[in-house]
Amino acid sequence: MTRTPQPDPAHALHTLREDGHAVIILDQTALPHRFVECRVETVEAAAHAIRSMQVRGAPLIGITAAYGLALALGRGADDAALEAAIALLGATRPTAVNLHWALERMRRHLAPLAPEVRRDAAWREARAILTEDAAANHALGSHGLALIQELAGRLERPVRVMTHCNAGWLATAAYGTALAPVYLAHAAGIAVEVLASETRPRNQGLLTAWELERARIAVTLVADNAAALLLQQGAADLVIVGADRIAANGDTANKIGTCLKALAAKDCGVPFYVAAPRSTIDWDCPDGAGIPIERRDAAELRRVTGLDAHDRLQTVDIAPESLRADNPAFDVTPARLITGILCECGIAAPGDLGALCGREAAR
Ligand code: MRU
Repeated sequence: MTRTPQPDPAHALHTLREDGHAVIILDQTALPHRFVECRVETVEAAAHAIRSMQVRGAPLIGITAAYGLALALGRGADDAALEAAIALLGATRPTAVNLHWALERMRRHLAPLAPEVRRDAAWREARAILTEDAAANHALGSHGLALIQELAGRLERPVRVMTHCNAGWLATAAYGTALAPVYLAHAAGIAVEVLASETRPRNQGLLTAWELERARIAVTLVADNAAALLLQQGAADLVIVGADRIAANGDTANKIGTCLKALAAKDCGVPFYVAAPRSTIDWDCPDGAGIPIERRDAAELRRVTGLDAHDRLQTVDIAPESLRADNPAFDVTPARLITGILCECGIAAPGDLGALCGREAAR
């Protein structure tokens, strides 16, 4: 029996730590320029961290919300307090279903308990969500590893993976989703090279590049608009992206720009995979039309932040305030463009997702 390799832990940091009183997050708005940790002590601070994208990525948003609820219950844990905290956290970001999945799981676990035991139970349940997410990502990564192994054997050269946004360990409890197969392949000694697209306007592709460089995995940053050309030129052997919500029929919401990659991949005959834990599947959503798409502040399009010549972080305007701008943060890739969905249960064609890991299994 072969054992799934473990990625070198020296290359991973903690996206989130806690001490039973507070949660310590890695402020992703400062990356890749600065490494800043913040101590989150209240539910309001947890909600702010999610809304402002100090923490981001569907699984990590859910985990942070669970801890946010635990923080809230330290101040009062009757039914009204429980529901108020769930409402506050649930309103932070609309598209990633992991947020609502985690809050609903917390509610189901906590509501039947007496208020005086809810706080401790909430910390325990939040820890369980964190631990299970890491395990799920490792498992889905091992399924993706099999795909990469097969390609490596056939191609006898580095396997080239195109991804979009950041679906690495920064977006999860550990390992990442789309990047989990890459980390496991690297740990298994398979040469992998990643094409990471910038992901305007929040530039999460820079986070992907930052993660991979730390792990000494070859990564090339490309503009979002380069994907079709690169796929036509055969620059990628497969595309693997994460997901923020997968509808029951396999339609998948992910960071804006994902659907364009899927369309180009289909046209070029390049396999296109979605990687996500089961907590990202919304069985109540029959298809992509029902997925709420977050529209973020248009200011994100008009400004860029980076380091100046003196290593100071600067935000500059690249468009006038008066310019109307629209900033949808996600798009929906139709199931017909998706070769397979990787989750902890295995790899399914989008239409077979229910058979592989039905609704009840995700609870
Ligand atoms: O807006 P974000 O950065 O929270 O977006 C979510 C994402 O990171 C991506 O869409 C990702 O591919 C799915 S989450 C692992």
